[in-house]
Amino acid sequence: MRVVVLRLGHRPERDKRITTHVGLVARAFGASEMLLTGRDAHIEESLKDAASRWGGNFAGSFALKSDVSWKGEVIRWKEAGGKVVHLTMYGSNLPDVIDEIRGSENILVAVGAEKVPAEMYQLADWNVAVGNQPHSEVAALAVFLDRLFLGRELVEDFAGGLKIVPSARGKQVIYPEHTEKI
Ligand SMILES: C[S@@+](CC[C@H](N)C(=O)[O-])C[C@H]1O[C@@H](n2cnc3c(N)ncnc32)[C@H](O)[C@@H]1O
Repeated sequence: MRVVVLRLGHRPERDKRITTHVGLVARAFGASEMLLTGRDAHIEESLKDAASRWGGNFAGSFALKSDVSWKGEVIRWKEAGGKVVHLTMYGSNLPDVIDEIRGSENILVAVGAEKVPAEMYQLADWNVAVGNQPHSEVAALAVFLDRLFLGRELVEDFAGGLKIVPSARGKQVIYPEHTEKI
């Protein structure tokens, strides 16, 4: 299964941190790429840095594509046979649709920042609510990916980066040669 995250409506003046966190969650929880409407050097730098220090996830090396047209990407994705999930508090309840979604080979997961264009709701194969209360794109994405991958992403190895040895107390890190100490 290939999962790509589409971040809509990024506003460089206010969304730097949250969009970076959308990207970090996408990578850490098993997506292979984030598509971003707009361009932001800070986000490009942070995600590149995370991927080079912490390695590639089970989907390979995490990629970022900036300055995309959200609608163009959604239409191309669907034309290529992929499915589109839009995370919104107004959507169907996650537990009611996740098994059906899991049957898809290629999934584009859209999350908003400011108000999402009405057309997104029409183009999505599923509008999915992670609970019907407003919260955050970071939380919605994390819960969605965790349910999609049934928690397997939490124990997957990331190749080529520094590795944390899970410990009940203290910090244990294994450093490959090319990595700097944290
Ligand atoms: C800060 S919210 C903005 C909500 C905004 N009022 C709207 O009209 O979409 C940013 C994004 O978080 C995600 N989100 C927030 N709450 C959610 C929920 N309960 N379920 C799914 N996604 C949610 C959606 O992707 C939303 O576009």
